Amino acid sequence: MRRRRSLYRRVYLHGVLLLVVLGIALSVVGAVLGRDSRFHMSPSRTAQHVAHLLEPVPAAQVPAFLEQAADMLNMDMAVYTADGQRLAAAGARPPRPLAAEAAARLLSAGSSRRDGHLAASARVGADRYVRLRSRVGEGSMALRALGSLVVVVLVLALVSIPFARAIAHPIEHLSTVARRWGAGDLAARARLERPDEIGELARTFDETAETLGRLLEGQRELLANVSHELRTPLARMRVSMALAAEAPPDDVARHLSAMEGDADELERLVADLLTTSRLDAGGALALQRAPADMGALLDEALARLARLHPGREVAREVEPTPAVSVESGLVGRVLDNVLDNAAKYSEPERPIAVALRPADGGVRLTVRDQGIGIALEDHARVFAPFFRGDRSRARGTGGAGLGLSLSKQIVDAHGGRITVDSQPGAGTTIAIWLPA
Ligand SMILES: Nc1ncnc2c1ncn2[C@@H]1O[C@H](COP(=O)(O)OP(=O)(O)OP(=O)(O)O)[C@@H](O)[C@H]1O
Ligand SMILES: [Mg+2]
Repeated sequence: MRRRRSLYRRVYLHGVLLLVVLGIALSVVGAVLGRDSRFHMSPSRTAQHVAHLLEPVPAAQVPAFLEQAADMLNMDMAVYTADGQRLAAAGARPPRPLAAEAAARLLSAGSSRRDGHLAASARVGADRYVRLRSRVGEGSMALRALGSLVVVVLVLALVSIPFARAIAHPIEHLSTVARRWGAGDLAARARLERPDEIGELARTFDETAETLGRLLEGQRELLANVSHELRTPLARMRVSMALAAEAPPDDVARHLSAMEGDADELERLVADLLTTSRLDAGGALALQRAPADMGALLDEALARLARLHPGREVAREVEPTPAVSVESGLVGRVLDNVLDNAAKYSEPERPIAVALRPADGGVRLTVRDQGIGIALEDHARVFAPFFRGDRSRARGTGGAGLGLSLSKQIVDAHGGRITVDSQPGAGTTIAIWLPA
């Protein structure tokens, strides 16, 4: 599946958007503040400029000139003689004269001096000087800058709210769902239909819940089946015991033998369950492998079959095969089951055909019967634990339905394959391949 990156893109674009907004806001603030401060930023040059313009102005017109310049520049101004006498002033708080020493220095050397952040003085001709100071004032400039900054931050914060909400909401929702799972409600689903990464996370959540639910359901079913299968032979044993207690001495042996059969069945069931759980937990690692000859294992299994189904005809076609590395007891259990199935699910007069030959770097065993066969829709289910076909139930052959599921588990753990090929009414072929 193509990875969706839209959240990634969104976060990235949001970052870029914030930068753009910040840039625009700063430019606007700069332009607004700069309107007043273009001259204020270099007060001594402004002072020089004013002084230069003042020089040719006749003494009578200096106050009017000063008034006009002060208005235009938004500054308070005053013109003084060398000894500190005020010639003219403009504005509410015109600057005071310089100290005598400073005035002398300004008039002898240099043409201007800076008197602070927003004030300056400049020489006018040889014996006068002008002083000017911004009306804006340092404090209010700083305040304005601060105010603009607050506005910018507010705008950025506002722009970010929908974005933050769009991310936080679904995550809160997901954690609510996760909490419900924690509380045991596995039916809870996130169901977030989103085309981005969070949507993908939500889908993974839901799929995980689905899988966990199925697993738990499977476990519950397994437990119910196991209990049921254990109960049947136990109930039969109880009946046999009651009968044996009241039976004439000659009959006791018969009841005891029936109980022995039930005990055998229980033992086999428990052994199968233990094997299942061992392979479940460890898989291939749980195996105790040793080199073995499949031909010999097959002979032993056929001997056991002959004891269980005396007189049963088996056609054998056995070629020499390479040695296999297997846990012999488990492979014997597989052979017992498929041979037992072939015998159980076909008429006694129908022969069973067994073939063993090397194949694909391993050995291949097929067991073919001409029995009742397996319905097409059941082919996949025969390997499920406790599955028994309707028609095999009807035959009353007994069995818990664990044989094939355990067989598949064993063959899988050995790295092999087991397949079923069957036609109802015509017969069944089970094929097993194991690596050499
Ligand atoms: N050779 C076969 N012919 C027809 N049906 C079969 C054959 N082998 C298996 N099946 C079907 O598959 C089911 C599962 O087989 P499996 O060996 O797991 O169980 P079982 O033989 O019924 O019981 P168990 O093996 O535990 O004694 C059987 O109940 C039967 O319906
Ligand atoms: Mg079986």
